[in-house]
Amino acid sequence: MCKSALTGHPSFGSEHVRALKPYLAGRQISAVAREFELDEAQIIKLASNENPLGMPIIARRAIEALAESGSAEYPDPDAYELKMSLKESFQVPHSWLTVGNGSSELLDIIVKAFVQNGQSVVVSQYAFSAYLLSILGVNARPIIVPALDFGHNLDAMLDAIEPDTKLIFIANPNNPTGTFHAPDQIRRFIERTPEDIVVVLDEAYAEYLADGQQSDIADLIGRYRNLIVVRTFSKIYALAGLRIGFAIAQEHLSELINKVRLPFNTSAYAQAAATAALADRDFVVQSRVENRMGLEQLYRGFDQMGLPYLRSFGNFVLVNVGDASEVFAKLLKYGVIVRPVANYELPNWLRVSVGLKDQNRRFLKILASIVMQDSIVKHEFKGASSCRN
Ligand SMILES: Cc1ncc(COP(=O)(O)O)c(C=O)c1O
Repeated sequence: MCKSALTGHPSFGSEHVRALKPYLAGRQISAVAREFELDEAQIIKLASNENPLGMPIIARRAIEALAESGSAEYPDPDAYELKMSLKESFQVPHSWLTVGNGSSELLDIIVKAFVQNGQSVVVSQYAFSAYLLSILGVNARPIIVPALDFGHNLDAMLDAIEPDTKLIFIANPNNPTGTFHAPDQIRRFIERTPEDIVVVLDEAYAEYLADGQQSDIADLIGRYRNLIVVRTFSKIYALAGLRIGFAIAQEHLSELINKVRLPFNTSAYAQAAATAALADRDFVVQSRVENRMGLEQLYRGFDQMGLPYLRSFGNFVLVNVGDASEVFAKLLKYGVIVRPVANYELPNWLRVSVGLKDQNRRFLKILASIVMQDSIVKHEFKGASSCRN
């Protein structure tokens, strides 16, 4: 029996599971309110790349209608209605679609379906951290390829493939860096990938891209037998709380993903809201426009403070604030929740989700006061030490 060296008690769980570092989610408004004795209404959460416009009205109506029916039935395990809408939207057959409990569930079960203990998966440095959790969760081996200008180094990722590589993750746009590769670069990458390796193209933020930057999913999937595109309703569609996303891949891959999917993985409410939200093109366009304006507002604010930042293709931006854990803690006290990214080995950066205009303004004002105070303190300290010298 294996015993812990510290306690002498037996150790539970597989060794690779015990070694996992749990996913660090953004702080919840209610938790911050409790900790700092703040009024929840005054807290701004710019920490989880949610859509600040809130759920589209049409989705809310769909949920209300379902609640009214008082049904106690299990949801449709095949999410038929939603798949019919997705089929129409993307011009793909029903058999190419899998619906998941958020796209993170799909990313996780894709690893389960295609990768075994000890095999390798290629990912980029700074890529969405949930990939590592899924890879390590099946005791597979991540091959982490150094980033290029904070984005994926696609050539180096191809060079990093090993004989036991089964899967490659590409986040496009990437979270947390906001970097992006144009559709033709992605195409060239897939073309050069060996056909027996599955490429997962995670497009959680794709709807925030301009029309010319979006991939033609039907054409891409039709061409490549080893490609899976994963999308979510959590971001632009503003349904993060309901947990729903989808994957598109040719039938031979979709079949395998569906084999490891639990039967009732998405709720009836999530399916109904997603079906409704998908039809609301105006909401998507409005969200995209507001996001662009919000990004520009944040860039202007950071420019005024002289803070370096990365221009982003998503609904969030990485900004270099120096000691990010200290600035994060100070922002929390003022009721502003952002996301430190030290877990990505970016200890000087904060990821800030784009909020509504007033939220961005308040955040920038508070950040400016913190940054100014810090520079005054540092200046005084420098002065003091130079006096001593
Ligand atoms: C790149 C990327 N992929 C996937 C997800 C998972 O989103 P969800 O599980 O809410 O669909 C996120 C969430 O932040 C993300 O940033």
